[in-house]
Amino acid sequence: MTAIPTFDPPVDVVREAAARFGTPLYLYDATTLSALAVEVAGFGGPFGFTPRFAIKANPTRAILRLFADAGLSFDASTTHEARRAILAGIAPERIQLTSQMLGEGFEDLVREGVGFTACSLAQLERYGQAFPGTSATLRINPGEGSGHNNRTNVAGPDASFGVWHAHVPDALKLAARHDVRLRGAHHHVGSGGDPARWAEIASVTLDIVRTMPDVTTVNLGGGFKVGRMPGEPSSDLSAAAAAADRLLREFATETGRQLHLEIEPGTYLTATGGAVIGSVQDVVTTGAAGRVFVKLDVGMAEILRPSIYGAQHPIDFLARDPAGELGGARSLLVVGPCCESGDLLTPTKGDPEGLAPRELPLPSLGDLAVVGGAGAYCASMPAKHYNSIPAAPELLVRADGTLELVRRRQSLDDLLRDEL
Ligand SMILES: Cc1ncc(COP(=O)(O)O)c(C=O)c1O
Repeated sequence: MTAIPTFDPPVDVVREAAARFGTPLYLYDATTLSALAVEVAGFGGPFGFTPRFAIKANPTRAILRLFADAGLSFDASTTHEARRAILAGIAPERIQLTSQMLGEGFEDLVREGVGFTACSLAQLERYGQAFPGTSATLRINPGEGSGHNNRTNVAGPDASFGVWHAHVPDALKLAARHDVRLRGAHHHVGSGGDPARWAEIASVTLDIVRTMPDVTTVNLGGGFKVGRMPGEPSSDLSAAAAAADRLLREFATETGRQLHLEIEPGTYLTATGGAVIGSVQDVVTTGAAGRVFVKLDVGMAEILRPSIYGAQHPIDFLARDPAGELGGARSLLVVGPCCESGDLLTPTKGDPEGLAPRELPLPSLGDLAVVGGAGAYCASMPAKHYNSIPAAPELLVRADGTLELVRRRQSLDDLLRDEL
C-alpha cells in the first residue's frame, strides 16, 4: 500500500473557478491524471501489455482525450460508452466492449473494429450468430470476488457478471459451434478490495485459462484500491504488477503459452485527480444537544458515493473572500441540498445510514467547500436530475495552469428539452 499522485486544488484556483463558473462544479487536474496514466502504463507484462481506462469512471471527452494521448486503450461498459469514445476521436480498435447488455448498435461497433467480450452464454450465442469465424473474449466469473463492500464486489456466486467458471466448457462448445475462437479471457472481480486477493483471484482465472486453448490475452480488470482520505493508503501498483508478472511467467513455464496482459482500472486513473467545489448554503442546528449541519449546494446530484456506499471523501472549507476567515473547529455533519436524509457527505464509513460528524472549522454562508477524491464515479454516477438539479459543469486545470471549461453547466431547459 502506498500514496499515489493526488490533486490538492490550490485555493486561488478554487476561488477563481467558483467566481467564474459558479458552484457546484467538478474540477480535474491534467497533471495528476497524466501522472496516474504514466503509472498504469508502466504496469507492464512479461509478454506484452495493454493498459485500458474503464470509461465508466469518467467519460467526459477531455478526460478520454487526455488518456488517449497518454497511450491508454479503453474499456467500454455499454455500447453508449463505446460510441462516446469513438465520437471523442478514439480508434475503435482501442476500445473493448464488456457489457452487461448488448445494447443499441452493438453489431455496428464490432464491424467498425471494437473488440467484444461475451459476458454471458446468451451474448456469446448472439455474437456467434452475427460474426461466425471471428474471435472474441470471454468474461469469466472465477467464483470469488473482492471489493470494498458488497456492492462493489462483482464476482462470486452472488454476482451476475460474466460466465460462471463451471460453465466455461459450455462457452467453449458454443464458440466452436459458431467457429468463434476465444482468444481473450477477462475477469473483473470488484473495486477497492484487498490487493492480495486481487493476485489470488488472478491465479484462479489463470487456472481456468489452462482449459481454454485459444486464449492469448488475459484481462485482469481494474479494482485497485485508492485512498481518498488523508493517510488512507492506495494499492501499490508495482506489487500487483510483480504478482501478475510472476503468475504469467509460471503459466508460461508450465504451459508454453505466453499470455499478453491487460488491465482496465477506472478508479485508480481518476479518483484522486478531481474534486467537487461547492458553497455553503446554510448552517442549521438541532439544539444544544443536537447536531450542527452544514448544508452545501453539493450533494448526491454530484457525488453519490457517500449516499450509496458510505464512502469517505475529504472535505475542506475555504473562506470565499481571501481576507475572510473560517470559524473554530466544530463537530459538523455535511449534507447536500436534496430533500432526502441520505443526501449526506459525512456518513459512517461503509454505512450510508450512519452519521459521522467531522471536526472541521465552522464555515459561514457563501464560503467554499472542496470535496476531494471525486474524479471517479462522481460526474459519471450522480443521482441524476433528482430535485430537477441540472448537472454541474466540469473544468480541467491544464498542465500550464489554465482553467478550461470542458462540460458546461446544464440549464433547466436541458432537462425539459425531451418532454413532450
Ligand atoms: C468490467 C470492469 N472493468 C473495470 C472496472 C473498473 O473498476 P475500478 O474503477 O475499480 O478500477 C469496472 C468497474 O466496475 C468493471 O466493471
